[in-house]
Amino acid sequence: MSFTIRPFHLCDLSSLYRICLLTGNSGNDASHLFSDPDLLGQFYVAPYAVLEPELCFVLTGSGIPCGYILGASDSEKFYHLCETEWFPLLRERYPLPQTNDNSLEQRIVRLIHVGHKPNVDLNSYPAHLHIDLLPEAQGKGMGRKLIEVFINKLIELKVPAVHLQVGKKNTGAVQFYERVGFQRIKEYEYAIAFGMMLK
Ligand SMILES: CC(C)(COP(=O)(O)OP(=O)(O)OC[C@H]1O[C@@H](n2cnc3c(N)ncnc32)[C@H](O)[C@@H]1OP(=O)(O)O)[C@@H](O)C(=O)NCCC(=O)NCCS
Repeated sequence: MSFTIRPFHLCDLSSLYRICLLTGNSGNDASHLFSDPDLLGQFYVAPYAVLEPELCFVLTGSGIPCGYILGASDSEKFYHLCETEWFPLLRERYPLPQTNDNSLEQRIVRLIHVGHKPNVDLNSYPAHLHIDLLPEAQGKGMGRKLIEVFINKLIELKVPAVHLQVGKKNTGAVQFYERVGFQRIKEYEYAIAFGMMLK
């Protein structure tokens, strides 16, 4: 398979939703956990691709999307933009659960009602990112390449630092971020925050 990294195009959106779902359970397929296959992407993919398209890059294998990296250059600004442009409609479409159902699906619905609130611990790392590759594209150095492309774009935009958060259960991703140069900033009960200074 020949891999290419290129800027996002709107025609990629449904593939990106799909990739998000197929990697959304701590790096594994989350399809069985969602009655609405778009829900994860409504939070973790589409607002970035639509509102910050210049920071969204698509990995293709023989022309077909099989991975992406996307994010926000200024997490505080992105939060406010999502509050006006993205979440109002989705909050009507996905009402808050009435029960304390703690399934992944209902936790994502709750996140839609919280929005992309920046984490104050990470204020000195204004940008953030998400990266997901389908299994057939993993372990071939393409994740590292996507990080390079994304970081070069942030440097071009004069962004001083970037962060991300990863679930502790996703041990492969934790090792990946360490290998590609991120430093641990903060450890939470279920997640680790990583950061990288860009200057
Ligand atoms: C995590 C992920 C982005 C890594 O991308 P990748 O293309 O598989 O990783 P690469 O092949 O570029 O590996 C880069 C380095 O990380 C290391 N690495 C990658 N995956 C690893 C794993 N599962 N365990 C240990 N090390 C790993 C590689 O050994 C390599 O190290 P080296 O270059 O020093 O030899 C990708 O596997 C993925 O999308 N997984 C599913 C979704 C996911 O978990 N996303 C992250 C959510 S926070």
